[in-house]
Amino acid sequence: MTSPADPPAGAGRLEELLRSHAVRVETVLERWLPPVHIQPPRLHEAMRYAVLLGGKRIRPALVYSTGQALGVELAALDGPAAAVELIHAYSLVHDDLPAMDDDDLRRGRPTCHKAYDEGTAVLVGDALQALAFHVLARDETLRVSAERRLQMVETLAMAAGSRGMVGGQALDLEAVGQTLDETELENMHIHKTGAILRACVRLGGLAAPHTPEDTLVRLDHYAKCIGLAYQIRDDILDVQGETQTIGKARGADAAHHKPTYPSVMGLARSIELANQLHEQAMESLSVLDTGADPLRWLSAFVVERRH
Ligand code: IPE
Ligand code: IPE
Ligand code: MG
Ligand code: MG
Ligand code: MG
Repeated sequence: MTSPADPPAGAGRLEELLRSHAVRVETVLERWLPPVHIQPPRLHEAMRYAVLLGGKRIRPALVYSTGQALGVELAALDGPAAAVELIHAYSLVHDDLPAMDDDDLRRGRPTCHKAYDEGTAVLVGDALQALAFHVLARDETLRVSAERRLQMVETLAMAAGSRGMVGGQALDLEAVGQTLDETELENMHIHKTGAILRACVRLGGLAAPHTPEDTLVRLDHYAKCIGLAYQIRDDILDVQGETQTIGKARGADAAHHKPTYPSVMGLARSIELANQLHEQAMESLSVLDTGADPLRWLSAFVVERRH
């Protein structure tokens, strides 16, 4: 058994990997985000605020690590990595709005609508979502056929839309003040958070020209497991984390009467379930060689993270 004080296996290397992928994707994001001197400056400044200031950059790391496990060069993954982070940043800006979770703190700073205003935050989300698809359509370092590029656009669109993340957010809004059973809760989490993480792995897979179907299926199963585990851990951190470490107000879920894994099945079972999902994710990768180790470390990080 690993005690909570022990660093997870590969922790040092994962930390280094996350840092280098974060630096890399931030350089790419910096290039794609409109500069503040372009009209309208306040909107462009707010977009940069929402994207560039903090965040673990787990989704880009998943794109890079999947692509690399399949032999793709990092430069050919920059576009999809930036695109998923733009969708994620937009989802956080809208998620924090008073009409949704009404949160004041994000990544240790005032939420976008607090730093700017609500109308600007709505527009920031809209513009970041459009920019994500612009990047996928235009990025010149993406060395895939036009057909593959279209598959990438479709993958991200499906994951972000009403049958993916936005659909999950709609279920989340309907669930406020309600009691959900485990199946309903799982369905909500798979959509609101799992869909984008699954898309990250699929985009990494689509960037590789000749991946065997069986490997893609296994990677998809890996992604489904860690996608659900990611939101379970997020729910756990809302109970167990420290506001300063998680960079958002602890206890916000309970304060807003959100059904979560800890509230529905208790903390101990939530932790156990997240660990089981990690094991299943590892099992899905069993046929892959050490090139897939970063995906293994990421799976461990998902269930052990403290922020
Ligand atoms: C928070 O995501 C919202 C969820 C979907 C769980 P992250 O925990 O990945 O947030 P950042 O990007 O690191 O701030
Ligand atoms: C967010 O879930 C899922 C999104 C699609 C943004 P949460 O509402 O639990 O995320 P946090 O806790 O505010 O980061
Ligand atoms: Mg929410
Ligand atoms: Mg929220
Ligand atoms: Mg949360």
